[in-house]
Amino acid sequence: MNKIKMSTPLVEMDGDEMTRIIWKMIKDILILPYVDLKTEYYDLGLKNRDATNDKVTYDSAMATKKYGVAVKCATITPNADRVKEYNLKEMWKSPNGTIRAILDGTVFRAPIVVKGIDPLVSNWKKPITIARHAYGDVYRNVEMTVPAGAKAELVVTKEDGSEDRALVHDFKTPGILQGQHNIDQSIESFAKACFQYALSTKQDLWFSTKDTISKKYDHRFKDIFNDLYEAEFKQKFEEAGITYFYTLIDDAVARVIRSEGGYIWACKNYDGDVMSDMVATAFGSLAMMTSVLVSPEGVYEYEAAHGTVQRHYYKHLKGEKTSTNSMATLFAWTGALKKRGELDHLPELVSFAEKLETASIQTIENGIMTGDLAGLSTLPKKTTVDTETFLQEVNKSLLKLL
Ligand SMILES: NC(=O)c1ccc[n+]([C@@H]2O[C@H](COP(=O)([O-])OP(=O)(O)OC[C@H]3O[C@@H](n4cnc5c(N)ncnc54)[C@H](O)[C@@H]3O)[C@@H](O)[C@H]2O)c1
Repeated sequence: MNKIKMSTPLVEMDGDEMTRIIWKMIKDILILPYVDLKTEYYDLGLKNRDATNDKVTYDSAMATKKYGVAVKCATITPNADRVKEYNLKEMWKSPNGTIRAILDGTVFRAPIVVKGIDPLVSNWKKPITIARHAYGDVYRNVEMTVPAGAKAELVVTKEDGSEDRALVHDFKTPGILQGQHNIDQSIESFAKACFQYALSTKQDLWFSTKDTISKKYDHRFKDIFNDLYEAEFKQKFEEAGITYFYTLIDDAVARVIRSEGGYIWACKNYDGDVMSDMVATAFGSLAMMTSVLVSPEGVYEYEAAHGTVQRHYYKHLKGEKTSTNSMATLFAWTGALKKRGELDHLPELVSFAEKLETASIQTIENGIMTGDLAGLSTLPKKTTVDTETFLQEVNKSLLKLL
């Protein structure tokens, strides 16, 4: 069989622990035999981040800006235990945070839907993608505890020294206080990434805030989305046959539960944080959640939503076989290959990635799956397999499709 050619390299960001083991297996078993893989490789494993003083993370993000598409393995975000375990020079920052800051991106999370793993919400038939704004609000807040008898005011000092003041509260008894902010430019980037992602995946876009209560703050989000839609995206959405729809967050929640899925739900930072966990759990498993970071310039970085599956890695190190679910990491690869194929006009590469996704879904629907899914699956006959056997089974299905 002739291997499929690529013209532009994918930015490949390797990672840590069990997902690093899965990473190599996916490449060896399912990609390298079929694709003449071109990647620019960055080792974001914790050891190499430490050795390069985290420069490798920065370099990989810059390469993503240059080439447009990256695929990333899960990585350890060090805490005090990890500093000891890896004898680190410093408690390096989260690589995802660093990459997100450089690409100014929005994260879209969507579940992989398979027969037999039924969503807890019985009418959900298609995936629901959550787009979460990743800047500001409560995540960059300023908080204080306030003693009785204190007066709290919001003060804005402008460039010319003049002030705007508003009374927050006259505290007769002790209480608490919180200041939040956001930036128009960041909201615009978020809105743009959402509209572009809706177009590229041909799904309707919903956006919700609490603008009836928050008449300046949340209303600003609503206005920025609306203005950008009218100015740049309305016609493109009509041509693509998709819709943009704004509603109050409480109405959105009710509609989401009654819907059959198949759309993108854009949420402010906190709403997205909470709702993505709710949607992930209701769809079945964190190991089946895909994640893609999309920048306003249309740069894409694909990854799994889960972490490095540390517990399985320690078993692996002891020589034990694990039954780790590779689906989300595999879909990070297929997502990136498809996008590269689309951008470079390589229909063969797109078709290969689609077949690989089909083969992996068929494998699970035929009853062959890892332990995490076997516990959830309603299929009458199922076989639990180890990490590598699952990928070998996917390969058998793939060969039939090619
Ligand atoms: N995007 C990322 O790179 C990312 C995200 C989250 C956590 N992390 C890192 O991962 C490490 C472990 O973190 P954690 O334990 O909180 O998260 P985790 O996602 O690795 O594991 C959470 C739970 O889900 C299970 N699980 C997750 N993925 C699975 C899979 N593919 N197959 C089977 N079971 C799976 C695990 O066994 C565990 O019980 C930490 O060092 C953290 O910093 C990285």
